[in-house]
Amino acid sequence: MAKITINAMKDGPCIVNLDGNRVATLCRCGSSANKPHCDGSHAKIGFKADEAQIEA
Ligand code: FES
Repeated sequence: MAKITINAMKDGPCIVNLDGNRVATLCRCGSSANKPHCDGSHAKIGFKADEAQIEA
């Protein structure tokens, strides 16, 4: 069975891994011009959020 891990990076995007391989970098600041993907805008706006990890 595939293992999915989602890492919410401190002050940044959610990194989605499938069996240890990165498959997506998702915006969670709401400012990306390329949603749902992170385009680095979180750094420009000073986005602040805690880190977290979910495994399924
Ligand atoms: S989290 Fe990176 S642009 Fe939103």
